[in-house]
Amino acid sequence: MSVIDFSKKDLVALAPLAGYTDLPFRTLAKEFGADLTFSEMISSNALIYHSKRTHKMIKKSPIETPYIIQIAGSDLEVIKEAVLILNDIEGIDGIDLNCGCPVPKIVSQNAGSSLLNDLDQMARVIETIKRYSKKRYTSVKSRLGFDKKIASDIALMAQKAGADFITFHARTRAGKYKAPVDFEPIKEAKELVDIPIIANGDITSLQKAKDVRELTNCDGIMIGRGAIGNPWIFYQIKNDLKYLSKDKIAEIVLRHYDLMIDFYGQKGVAIFRKHIHNYSKGLVNASEFRDSINRVEDIKLVRDMIEEFFRS
Ligand SMILES: Cc1cc2nc3c(=O)[nH]c(=O)nc-3n(C[C@H](O)[C@H](O)[C@H](O)COP(=O)(O)O)c2cc1C
Repeated sequence: MSVIDFSKKDLVALAPLAGYTDLPFRTLAKEFGADLTFSEMISSNALIYHSKRTHKMIKKSPIETPYIIQIAGSDLEVIKEAVLILNDIEGIDGIDLNCGCPVPKIVSQNAGSSLLNDLDQMARVIETIKRYSKKRYTSVKSRLGFDKKIASDIALMAQKAGADFITFHARTRAGKYKAPVDFEPIKEAKELVDIPIIANGDITSLQKAKDVRELTNCDGIMIGRGAIGNPWIFYQIKNDLKYLSKDKIAEIVLRHYDLMIDFYGQKGVAIFRKHIHNYSKGLVNASEFRDSINRVEDIKLVRDMIEEFFRS
């Protein structure tokens, strides 16, 4: 099992992003230097009912190491079953508990961000993962709180319950994805616990990465939306790269597309459309390009259209 190196405090992780950070995307992020990757959120219920789609979502890329599976849930029996299933899958280095998801379907099951309203239950879920998991890491990805900022309470509780590290998204659940990020509570939490803390929220450049590291003294940073349409951000942050040539971008978009087709087959054409949207944002004639490519299903023709648009 592989070890996460927190010692240099320069770790950069790719955030779990449901609908985006599938195996092809994570492969690309790894190729650009992401140190740590997480699966998209996996419902522990779906996992125990052996949903085919869920098992595809878990699959890891050969270069993805260390690799963490993120699960959502709060029913201790279901969590235990899910952990036992993951124990039998090789190549997984850790299990992360989602404590941030604001989606009603998850919250109504007392999972995701609703655990932030019940730290005792959150502790029991962490303890259950820790107790049954044979993987090296048990971790938590949390917001600062449900509506109040209680990151220090969460960090102390998670550490006591057995978490090996915590990631904090620098907003409360009430702050959704728009409230200004606040890294101060993460700094305070970091002073109180011994386990590593990863800071997350609106980090989109080397300067922001530096500012967050300096302010919080965190052990790593995590990037989510900043990597969508921009998976080379990991290389940029590590190498202070300001500019990427058009040809290089074309090469990356094509590489992403090829990975999607390898993984999903024909279905990859439709799934890739959202990525085309993100890669082409702000470019000349992008909306005409999207309009025409959205109507094409042929794998080779779509590839040729991508090549022509991004290289011209
Ligand atoms: C489309 C989308 C999907 C997300 N899916 C997940 C998820 O599956 N699990 C999770 O813990 N957080 C999820 N998040 C939250 C992100 O991991 C991250 O905490 C948040 O976007 C803030 O970081 P950022 O500003 O770098 O994107 C998602 C966010 C977005 C925008």
